[in-house]
Amino acid sequence: MYIIAIWIILVYLYTTVHAQCNITLNTLEDKEADCTYQGFTSVPTNLPPDLKKLDLSYNRLTRLGDNSFHRYKYLEHLILDNNVIIFLDPKAFTGLSLLRRLSMVKNQLNVFTSYPPGVFESLQNLSALDVSRNMKTPEYNPYRIPVGELCNLRELSIDLVLNATFGQQFRKLHNLQKLRFDYCHVDILYNETFSDMPVNIKEFHMTTCKHFVVIEVGVLVPFPHLKVLNLTNSNIHLTQALRIVHPFQNKSMDAILFRGITHGNIKHDLDAVVLTQEMMKYISTICITTLDFSDNLIISVKNNSIVSFKHPQCFEHIMVSSNSFSLETWAINLFLFVFRMTNIKMFDFSYFPLRFKNPVFLDVVTKNNHTTIQRLEYEGRLEIHNITVTVPNQIQFVRIAHVMGRNGFREIKVINSFLRYLEVSYFETDVFPILTVEGFNSLEHLDLSGISSDITIGAGKIPLLIHLKTLILKETKLYLVLQTNSSILCLCPNIKNLDISYNFMWKMNSLWQLPHLTQLNISHNLFDDVPDVVTKFDSLTELDLSHNQLTTIRKNILSWIDTQHTKFGNFKLYLSNNPLICSCDTTIFLRWILTTKVKLDKNGNYSCWVSSLKTINYTRNVAEDFHHYFVDCDSTVWIKLGISLLVSVLSTLICITLLYNFRWRIIFFFFRNIRRFAEKGLELNFDYDVYVSYSDDCISFVRELQKKVEDEWGFKICFEDRDFIVGESIATERATSIHRCRHVIFLVSPSIVENEWTRFEIERAKYEKFSKNLQKIVVITRNIPLDNIPVEFSTIWKDVLLIQWPFEKEEVQMAWQKLRLWFF
Ligand SMILES: *[C@@H]1O[C@H](CO)[C@@H](O)[C@H](O)[C@H]1NC(C)=O
Ligand SMILES: *[C@@H]1O[C@H](CO)[C@@H](O)[C@H](O)[C@H]1NC(C)=O
Ligand SMILES: *[C@@H]1O[C@H](CO)[C@@H](O)[C@H](O)[C@H]1NC(C)=O
Ligand SMILES: *[C@@H]1O[C@H](CO)[C@@H](O)[C@H](O)[C@H]1NC(C)=O
Ligand SMILES: *[C@@H]1O[C@H](CO)[C@@H](O)[C@H](O)[C@H]1NC(C)=O
Ligand SMILES: *[C@@H]1O[C@H](CO)[C@@H](O)[C@H](O)[C@H]1NC(C)=O
Ligand SMILES: *[C@@H]1O[C@H](CO)[C@@H](O)[C@H](O)[C@H]1NC(C)=O
Ligand SMILES: *[C@@H]1O[C@H](CO)[C@@H](O)[C@H](O)[C@H]1NC(C)=O
Ligand SMILES: *[C@@H]1O[C@H](CO)[C@@H](O)[C@H](O)[C@H]1NC(C)=O
Ligand SMILES: *[C@@H]1O[C@H](CO)[C@@H](O)[C@H](O)[C@H]1NC(C)=O
Ligand SMILES: *[C@@H]1O[C@H](CO)[C@@H](O)[C@H](O)[C@H]1NC(C)=O
Ligand SMILES: *[C@@H]1O[C@H](CO)[C@@H](O)[C@H](O)[C@H]1NC(C)=O
Repeated sequence: MYIIAIWIILVYLYTTVHAQCNITLNTLEDKEADCTYQGFTSVPTNLPPDLKKLDLSYNRLTRLGDNSFHRYKYLEHLILDNNVIIFLDPKAFTGLSLLRRLSMVKNQLNVFTSYPPGVFESLQNLSALDVSRNMKTPEYNPYRIPVGELCNLRELSIDLVLNATFGQQFRKLHNLQKLRFDYCHVDILYNETFSDMPVNIKEFHMTTCKHFVVIEVGVLVPFPHLKVLNLTNSNIHLTQALRIVHPFQNKSMDAILFRGITHGNIKHDLDAVVLTQEMMKYISTICITTLDFSDNLIISVKNNSIVSFKHPQCFEHIMVSSNSFSLETWAINLFLFVFRMTNIKMFDFSYFPLRFKNPVFLDVVTKNNHTTIQRLEYEGRLEIHNITVTVPNQIQFVRIAHVMGRNGFREIKVINSFLRYLEVSYFETDVFPILTVEGFNSLEHLDLSGISSDITIGAGKIPLLIHLKTLILKETKLYLVLQTNSSILCLCPNIKNLDISYNFMWKMNSLWQLPHLTQLNISHNLFDDVPDVVTKFDSLTELDLSHNQLTTIRKNILSWIDTQHTKFGNFKLYLSNNPLICSCDTTIFLRWILTTKVKLDKNGNYSCWVSSLKTINYTRNVAEDFHHYFVDCDSTVWIKLGISLLVSVLSTLICITLLYNFRWRIIFFFFRNIRRFAEKGLELNFDYDVYVSYSDDCISFVRELQKKVEDEWGFKICFEDRDFIVGESIATERATSIHRCRHVIFLVSPSIVENEWTRFEIERAKYEKFSKNLQKIVVITRNIPLDNIPVEFSTIWKDVLLIQWPFEKEEVQMAWQKLRLWFF
């Protein structure tokens, strides 16, 4: 009796435990077990013994006992991530002589206490060990992890502890190629820190040091054969990083990745970076394939130092985005330099909020096969010169996005070019260069977002691009062009993917026949009905209609969608964030949502306005509880009213009144939703309402303004003397403050001419305005004739609201009134 019971329990346990792991065969017919999220507290012992891969992530293992994996001696890949393992028994991995990869990320293994000697002894074939993200707090102790036993190890990922001393056992890792530190607790790296590391290391990654790390210049001397140096996002400062690369002078490296390593640091007297030739003297001698200098607070580049590299032919990928230096005097040199990179494949120069003072434009003139460069000083007025730029033909990827500057080019020429990806977006310019192709072109991806389409494709600036697969025209005011020319897309007849979101379109009568179009994105527009043109695209399988003003979808569109789905076996439809209505009139649509096989976003559960109950609920709730919501749909009020309409004047009146009421409700609903959707869409999330830029002779007026705006109107002002955080770099502080404000007010008074920061603030404000964060720029002039206003303002005139502050009392009242209105 008991035996049977126990036997039953055992069988039960066996089958359930077994059933919890998902055993599959991979493409090589190897058995793999996926045992994630099963709450195991010990290693299951009933899986097939011939497993090659075992994944036990997200369980509750706390300790690996001796011979835990004895049964699975064919294992090659073992994953124990996200458990709570704090200790390994000395024979925990016995028998795993074929294991090649072992991962124990995010446990509680301590590099001093958790690994007994001999624990790795049987892992003779182990090639990759990942024990990173275990040391959650800074602690100091020498490393006692017996890695010396892993003579075949090629990749090691481990945490970097405070005052790290590694020890002799690391010297034995003769085959180690790749060293990666994750969870970084160091604050000083000494010359000796890595002296115990084997010399053959080729890749060094240290990317999570959040606290500032002081680095002695000899720290990388133990790695003479390094090919990849990845310090991305560690808080090191570019100045230090450039100093430690001296061991690699005159060598060649695959990648130097210094993105986002500079954060202002008052304590160590390090602020924004001014690149000089002295700083670049080591790195410039290295032959580098991939260089990333992005996001490093580089505010100025002296003496062409960024183009001082001795081996330009080595570069294949260059990223210098998101810095703050202006091209001022060396733009030409940069341009010429790019031409000397004969193997360049990718060039990214984006997110440059520039501060132009006396910019010199890059004028590249091609005449009789000779390219000459002309300098062109800023003369206060933009002159268009007929300059042609030829894109180096081996380059494949170019991104020049979010750049504020003037464009001096007339023509961009691609001749027999391998260029596949071109993004020229959010470029503030009045004149867009004409793009011409000669010979073959390979362009597949073109992104012209953020530039008004009437100066790009609407102005005939784009040639026929037969290989183009993806065209992105976000925020391009496309309606301007479509109104007059509905065949603009004839220049890319073979595109598969078209993104025309954020274009304020409410109707679209025709695009071009695009027989290969499979993805169409018309989200973030103002469509209140799905335009019929979409049904003309026979290959369409993905349609994004989210963030529009749809209340329902018509029956013929629904059946077309179903047809497409049947034809291609799949169709994706996005409908979220539309002011859908759940009413008697939309029941067909509601039922369709519930029954269709088409893949809907949000699982087909959208919020909708339930007209009968005057509340918002979800389409699924409504559709599933149909009768409750629409009791009188069939015997309907509406039909009755319709009949009455025919017979009685009185009923007509009632009907009109009803419809009217209903309409008002809808309009009100729309209004609320449009605002809500719009604010959400833009992710408007400001800490302050207004940033005020002023100079000394305005302080009394600022007080007055503060009283009015904060005390009376209840808005929040951000101004320098009160709200700046002490110790931050002043430029950063200004830039972030402007970013955090909804509007900007410039108080222009006679002394503003001397205020150096005004120009910077104007540039930032322009940038924010252009990147759609900022809503209004207000310029208030006081005691200064319009002629004396600094010329810098002339560049933003068209975007600003101007108030010449009056003297008369009544007029002052009016001015306040005006200001108040503008803020809403
Ligand atoms: C097992 O894996 C297959 C293929 O990856 C998957 O379709 C299935 O849902 C999984 N089953 C369980 C219980 O996780
Ligand atoms: C390592 O694996 C290979 C097969 O992949 C095997 O021949 C060899 O014996 C293994 N080494 C050890 C020490 O077990
Ligand atoms: C780390 O080293 C520094 C300098 O040698 C020393 O001042 C500090 O006390 C050490 N920290 C710990 C936790 O040992
Ligand atoms: C570190 O090494 C460099 C040479 O690689 C040397 O110039 C420097 O003096 C050393 N620093 C210390 C503190 O030993
Ligand atoms: C460099 O480090 C970052 C952050 O850890 C990582 O995402 C990236 O893949 C690394 N780059 C290379 C080339 O390994
Ligand atoms: C690098 O090469 C240059 C010129 O070839 C030479 O003058 C310099 O001494 C070399 N530097 C090192 C560290 O080898
Ligand atoms: C760098 O330029 C400054 C002037 O801007 C000049 O005084 C200095 O000599 C230049 N240094 C070098 C190394 O060319
Ligand atoms: C320009 O170069 C092309 C090919 O490189 C050559 O055929 C042509 O004769 C050259 N023209 C002049 C004016 O040198
Ligand atoms: C540039 O070319 C246009 C016609 O293509 C011409 O009207 C204009 O005068 C030229 N400008 C200059 C500066 O050569
Ligand atoms: C519309 O635009 C296309 C492509 O730029 C052009 O070929 C066509 O001539 C234009 N049609 C009209 C009527 O302007
Ligand atoms: C459509 O465009 C919007 C906005 O640009 C984007 O958020 C969305 O992911 C796109 N939809 C698809 C399906 O890619
Ligand atoms: C939404 O509908 C469900 C089902 O009819 C109902 O239980 C729930 O109370 C409704 N929610 C609201 C906010 O009206």
